[in-house]
Amino acid sequence: MQDNMMWWRGGVIYQIYPRSFLDSRGDGVGDLNGITEKLDYVASLNVDGIWLSPFFTSPMLDFGYDVSDYRDVDPMFGTLEDFKALLEKAHSLGLKVMIDQVISHTSDQHPWFQESRQNRTNPKADWFVWADPKPDGTPPNNWLSIFGGSAWTFDSRRQQYYLHNFLTSQPDVNFHHPEARQAQLDNMRFWLDLGVDGFRLDTVNFYFHDAELRDNPPVPKGEAKTLGAPEANPYTWQRHVYDLSRPENLDFLKDLRALMDEYPGTTTVGEIGDDNPLERMAEYTAGGDKLHMAYTFDLLNMPHSASYLREVIERFQRLAGDAWPCWATSNHDVVRSATRWGADEDPHAYPKVMLAVLFSLRGSVCLYQGEELGLPEADVPFERIQDPYGKVLWPEFKGRDGCRTPMPWTDGEQGGFSPVEPWLPMEARHLELAVSRQQDDPNATLNTVRALLAFRRSHPALFDGDLSLVDVGDDLLGFTRQKGDETLLCVFNLTGQEQQTTLPVEVASDLPVAHFTATRDGSTLTLPAYQAAFMQVA
Ligand code: GLC
Repeated sequence: MQDNMMWWRGGVIYQIYPRSFLDSRGDGVGDLNGITEKLDYVASLNVDGIWLSPFFTSPMLDFGYDVSDYRDVDPMFGTLEDFKALLEKAHSLGLKVMIDQVISHTSDQHPWFQESRQNRTNPKADWFVWADPKPDGTPPNNWLSIFGGSAWTFDSRRQQYYLHNFLTSQPDVNFHHPEARQAQLDNMRFWLDLGVDGFRLDTVNFYFHDAELRDNPPVPKGEAKTLGAPEANPYTWQRHVYDLSRPENLDFLKDLRALMDEYPGTTTVGEIGDDNPLERMAEYTAGGDKLHMAYTFDLLNMPHSASYLREVIERFQRLAGDAWPCWATSNHDVVRSATRWGADEDPHAYPKVMLAVLFSLRGSVCLYQGEELGLPEADVPFERIQDPYGKVLWPEFKGRDGCRTPMPWTDGEQGGFSPVEPWLPMEARHLELAVSRQQDDPNATLNTVRALLAFRRSHPALFDGDLSLVDVGDDLLGFTRQKGDETLLCVFNLTGQEQQTTLPVEVASDLPVAHFTATRDGSTLTLPAYQAAFMQVA
């Protein structure tokens, strides 16, 4: 087992989307007590901790990613006392608790913004990004909101525009203002004092903007867009040089790290959406004086072949130094991986081998609720769409509701999530994949996850060992993981055909993991479709 202070390095973090985990109050929306009730289940997955998406006071226009009080629980989810009980139960089960911090922007209902928008002279006048219109009345520059339209909204009282990278109701905090920066760090300290083990930092590279408000240049034709936004979104047609990933952010991240270091054993994982995500991840997590970990959209987007994964690994290794990634293949913002990648493969077999890859990469892991069940993306009819982002780009992009539907605990009414109709519909296809249906089936994705994570726990090389790619042919992905005396060889077949390869290293023994089958004859390895093999290197 890991040194407890370093639990996060190689740790597996289970992401819970509170609205959709378990409704304990019967109002159709999940809540904190519902999560507490299911922590035994979470612990049974052999994960190291949880990340809770926002449960703070919020008008919920972006479902909690628009915070109006950073230090309290929204009544929809319960009370601060409920959170303390959750924390205590999690800790008693050996689970770490990370919470989401959305400090780059607030809700427009937050008292800071309410004050700031009054006039140009109040004490919080510059806590948000205000700028005069151009002489023709149009916005100060060409920056766009990810959720559609200009990133600037005019406020008639101040006769100025304010900046928002997301909804108009999510004004961007001015990180050039030292008091605003400090106030956000103080909000984080509140939760550290309460005993949380770390933070997922929303949009961590969006904190600063270019103080000169220079226009972003267009993306040259044919250049890859890696931000994580769909191509239908004009946001991806700009190079985001001036509205995010500004150099000043590095100093702020150092201040943030200094705060974390006052609370030993705590950690951070930043969300990075950037034109050069792996470069940014390397920059933000190297050196031990900024973030502990970060995730990008490299495994949250479309490509998924062995050659694509090799390319991502290679690119990251080239840049990495002592940087530390946290890999994710699904979360509350993207189409579930079982559909995104599995739809053109075998939707039942594919999730298992992909999870095997995810749990074997060098880095930590975020596993999204329902991913352990191999859930496909839910079909949410237009009339039930909740996500404002989905409404803007429909039907080209249907938004993020399809990955946010309620957890299927049983195959009964509403999947055992709630006694009433939930805020997003229970997907009918999820019922046959419910926890109760998979629980006792050794071949189910759920038990494959348990087996893989138990295997990861018992092999330090998989936690934080070095990774070297090995040549097992174009169609397979292969690498070794090495720490101390232990070297493991991991080979994955992500295709629907049996593959055979000659192993480039000498194998001492095969390491069986439940569900996975392979045959090895000396140095010849045969992997059936969607299978993985783990071996001890001589
Ligand atoms: C992050 C969150 C996403 C949210 C956005 C704005 O990308 O993951 O859900 O809408 O930030 O806060």
